[in-house]
Amino acid sequence: TGLTAYDQGFVNTASTKSAITFIDGEKGILRHRGYPIEQLAGTKSFLETAWLLIYGELPTPAELKKFEEKIQRHTLVHEDLKNLFHAMPQNAHPMAVLAAGVSALSTFYQDSLDPHDPEQVELSTIRLLAKLPTLAAYSHKNSMGQALLYPDNSLNYVENFLRLNFGNMAEDYVQNPVVTKALDTLLVLHADHEQNCSTSTVRLVGSSQANLFASVSSGINALFGPLHGGANEAVLEMLQHIQDSGESVQAFIQRVKNKEDGIRLMGFGHRVYKNLDPRARIVKATADQVLAELGVKDPLLQIAKELEAAALADPYFQERKLYPNVDFYTGVIYKALGFPPRMFTALFAMGRLPGWIAHWREMNVDPATKIGRPQQIYVGEPERSLKGFFG
Ligand code: CMC
Repeated sequence: TGLTAYDQGFVNTASTKSAITFIDGEKGILRHRGYPIEQLAGTKSFLETAWLLIYGELPTPAELKKFEEKIQRHTLVHEDLKNLFHAMPQNAHPMAVLAAGVSALSTFYQDSLDPHDPEQVELSTIRLLAKLPTLAAYSHKNSMGQALLYPDNSLNYVENFLRLNFGNMAEDYVQNPVVTKALDTLLVLHADHEQNCSTSTVRLVGSSQANLFASVSSGINALFGPLHGGANEAVLEMLQHIQDSGESVQAFIQRVKNKEDGIRLMGFGHRVYKNLDPRARIVKATADQVLAELGVKDPLLQIAKELEAAALADPYFQERKLYPNVDFYTGVIYKALGFPPRMFTALFAMGRLPGWIAHWREMNVDPATKIGRPQQIYVGEPERSLKGFFG
């Protein structure tokens, strides 16, 4: 049938051309629109990075101001959309709630669904960037059985998000530049990572000309899984397990190496990085900084450092080129900021949003785009007949 290759997991097949992000996994290089991540993280805000990814260049101060103002104007969600949150069980996972909330945007904002109308695409871009933090905070509040707060547009993107999550308790954070800068930097570090599972999902769904909200809610569902964005929550559970059970780091590493019950060292390994994930280095430094600033002494950070040292010194991890990835230290920071582990992947989703949008838009304006439709190799029954039917 003209089928030429079988490539389980797309290990060796490019699904698209893209001008957004460059990764050299052997050398541990990550660049957005040509700029190394080490230069962007800490110097450019999340919204500047979002602009860079989506529009291709860094914004001028005037462009940035306008962009921030436009986003601030759209942070509210329709009052009726809030009913969706009240309809969900309180113990629902925030990622499941968030995906449903984003999917519901297609029902409330029907004037920005046409992927072929540049103005509608622009409006849905702004709406998503503005409303995703509100929806993410609502998924958190819903899980606590607490009131859904209104956005405070006198605050910046990150400050407003913290307030939506923690109300007045967030005042310490909002006034603490180390905290807000750290969260902003973490969002920058997650902003794009070329054709990862969720971004490929957004592109595949979008290739059918589905609208941006529908495509991004699919991306959120793809990110939910523990091998992808869900790893940050799984790392914290792993660290907590080690602390609670009293199991030694060496004994845990041994169980991972034995592949006991299929356990993995969560937050380690990557499909493309066969060297240190450059984001992990920055996250680790940020973890030390934030915990020191908040005066938090979390034994989980020490356990994480011991696990990292033990794994890096071990031939099992060396031979397979397994290094810490972006998820290894983020959970410890999110925890110090007061987020429950179930919210960690929703924070990843907020960070990855500009990447999803940039890829969806790039795909939509590329005349070479075709609907994504992989081939398969059929391994089922050969032709056979139902009883009573004869050839
Ligand atoms: N712990 C123990 N062994 C591992 C790990 C790990 N974290 N990761 C890979 N391996 C082993 C794996 O068992 C296999 O060994 P063998 O050759 O003996 O069968 C070998 O290394 C190659 O692994 P793979 O599963 O073929 O590699 P992959 O490229 O398909 O998977 C991965 C990449 C990220 C899914 C995997 O490394 C993993 O499961 N890591 C833990 C979950 C995690 O931290 N995910 C976050 C990824 S980064 C951010 C994101 O994308 O969200």
